[in-house]
Amino acid sequence: NVIFQDSKQGSLQVAREIASLIRERADKGQKCVLGLATGSSPIRVYEELVRMHREEGLSFKNVVTFNLDEYHPMDRSNIQSYHYFMHQHLFDHVDIAAENVHIPDGRISLQDVQEYCKKYEGMIEQAGGLDFQLLGIGRTGHIGFNEPGSHYNSATREITLDYVTRIDASSAFKGLENVPRKAITMGIGTIKRAKRIVLLAWGQNKAPVIRETIEGDISSEVPATYLQEHANTTFVLDKEAASLL
Ligand code: GLP
Repeated sequence: NVIFQDSKQGSLQVAREIASLIRERADKGQKCVLGLATGSSPIRVYEELVRMHREEGLSFKNVVTFNLDEYHPMDRSNIQSYHYFMHQHLFDHVDIAAENVHIPDGRISLQDVQEYCKKYEGMIEQAGGLDFQLLGIGRTGHIGFNEPGSHYNSATREITLDYVTRIDASSAFKGLENVPRKAITMGIGTIKRAKRIVLLAWGQNKAPVIRETIEGDISSEVPATYLQEHANTTFVLDKEAASLL
């Protein structure tokens, strides 16, 4: 784990790692496949990548992205959608090609969702797998929306959101009754096949779940503990999130 004085320092470090991976691949004429996350935790990382694009000429022309998750059902124009979030914080401000951006589609019908998830999983494979996966963590120990009970080898699928997760989302949705009950998420298996994983956690209210994740037994009760089995994962924490370690 790497513990930073604050979330800003941690975010800058992670943005630099992503930028050098993008440049390294571009120099070799290769694509760079990034798995991306939403939530408040990665916002500063995206902010820094946008700054590097504007001020240092960092290009996203060779970048292919796959987002972890999306609420279901969810329209793209809804300001609570992860589709909206990603465009607002990153995609609208860099030179990434629209066809290289992949976010689970919250508009997919219930009867098509299973096949859609299979296709999403297949597209990640076809792209050559994830070179780098950025993660946040929920208070339930979820990564993406892999709630407690998720299988270590799960694939992209529709899941039912945990009550705690819906409570945490309720202020953004202006009330619990407006928070969707389901979501589409990459699986634990999908995430674990990434060549490199960085999980971000900031603030005191993440301290208990960070302790469980890093020091607890590997268990489907806290899906983030599965990351203990991944050879190239770094937990990037601020002092508050690391305070119970
Ligand atoms: C949501 C997202 C997760 C994210 C989590 C934590 O549940 N699906 O990917 O990690 O929120 O959010 P935050 O970073 O705002 O604490």
